[in-house]
Amino acid sequence: MNTLAIVAGSGTHPISRHIYGHFAEHLGRCIYEGIWVGEDSPIPNTRGIRNDVINALRNLKMPNLRWPGGCFADTYHWKDGIGPRESRPSIVNIHWGGVTETNHFGTHEFFDLCDMLDCEPYICGNVGSGTVQEMAEWLEYITMPAQSPMANLRRKNGREDAWPLKYWGVGNENWGCGGNMRAQYYADEYRRYASYCRNFSGQPLYKVACGFGDEWNEILMRDAHSFMDGLSVHYYTNAGTENPNRPATGFPVDQWFGTFHSALGIEHFIRKTRNIMDRYDPKKRVGMIVDEWGTWFNVEPGTNPGFLYQQNSIRDALVAGLSLNIFNNHADRVHMANIAQTINVLQSMILTEGPRMLLTPTYHVFEMYRVHQDATLLPSTLECEDSVLGEYRMAQLHASASRSQDGRIHVSICNLDLEKTADVNILLKGTSSGAVTGRILAADTMDAHNTFDHPDKVHPVPFEDVRMDGARLIAQLPAMSVTVLEITPKG
Ligand code: AHR
Repeated sequence: MNTLAIVAGSGTHPISRHIYGHFAEHLGRCIYEGIWVGEDSPIPNTRGIRNDVINALRNLKMPNLRWPGGCFADTYHWKDGIGPRESRPSIVNIHWGGVTETNHFGTHEFFDLCDMLDCEPYICGNVGSGTVQEMAEWLEYITMPAQSPMANLRRKNGREDAWPLKYWGVGNENWGCGGNMRAQYYADEYRRYASYCRNFSGQPLYKVACGFGDEWNEILMRDAHSFMDGLSVHYYTNAGTENPNRPATGFPVDQWFGTFHSALGIEHFIRKTRNIMDRYDPKKRVGMIVDEWGTWFNVEPGTNPGFLYQQNSIRDALVAGLSLNIFNNHADRVHMANIAQTINVLQSMILTEGPRMLLTPTYHVFEMYRVHQDATLLPSTLECEDSVLGEYRMAQLHASASRSQDGRIHVSICNLDLEKTADVNILLKGTSSGAVTGRILAADTMDAHNTFDHPDKVHPVPFEDVRMDGARLIAQLPAMSVTVLEITPKG
């Protein structure tokens, strides 16, 4: 028997809704085709942005969207993406397939997208190949309400009012694609750039510095923590693995275990990063911003290797579920996370093919987990059996719990086992349950996924195998499943 004990009366930390954030880069078919089809497209759109995609994403209650990269951000010159579209320069996207970037999707289109999604923009500025002046002017263009050269340029391009903006990244992966800098150099550059990053609307700007591994983070926190609000770190499941053969579907059983071994490593990564942060920021003012995370598998056969287009199965759904549980459980330090990437790239919410669109199993997890956004984290302890295959061993279950403002308790539990149903005792300390309902995402095969011909193969259904027994709940969670329970306390 497995036991999940939840201290239902004593939550302290809010789970920031920004943990449920997203990321859209100018990479492959994420922006172009996935989001932007242009006003003249036969695909139904609003001012060039696909209607089907907007409708589906709105249902996720997306709190924020990071843009324009990724590695692309440190090659992006924002003035290329404003003004009449036909006059914008075409450039080469040097990081991602060497394809032509038309710049038809730029600052105005991005803010229009955020408006349609009702989400907050999170922009990553160019440190690697840009200048302090270029970054400062972009902020002036976006946020200046008064008369100024950049605000007047914005007006000339059709936008009178400044846009609301809070989140600003000062470079991306500057230890690698963003300039191959050394830690001390970036720490100094960060301080210089951050000094000129102003939000002219009077709202505070939340400045995010680019983090990396232990040594880098140590130096950056030591020398620049007082100039930052967030420290960005990235964690990909399976990236950099020695085995180049890691398909998103049709994989052997050892890759089921290997993937979760890699995914669960994020717990260790968060712990060691927060230990470093704690040394310089014991009051936890600076947020850990996991602004790229997710699975990284082989591209689909026959597609451009530079486009990072991969299928998405129940295995991805479980990686999403357990990662979000881990972020929830570290909500006192993790203030934001952004899965990579929204559409047609890496661990996507949505895949498109011409006018067709499908929702991935990962989308369904984000939809089911919406209930945790801005809820209060409830401390929980899980004792469970292991899943074992030869030399591989991992905890079978992973969970988190929260209480929403109206008092309902939500518990999300992932069962990673390929065969074993998990009987779970859920003990609610400090409250007694009045009613319980649930939803489950499960599958019969370890690579079950949705296709354009069968788009609903993997989708959530009501969950019935849970009952109340005095002060506890007893649930039977099938193999390969993500379940979210909703408990309405008595009285
Ligand atoms: O998400 C794809 C790429 O992964 C991003 O551009 C980069 O920041 C990371 O290495």
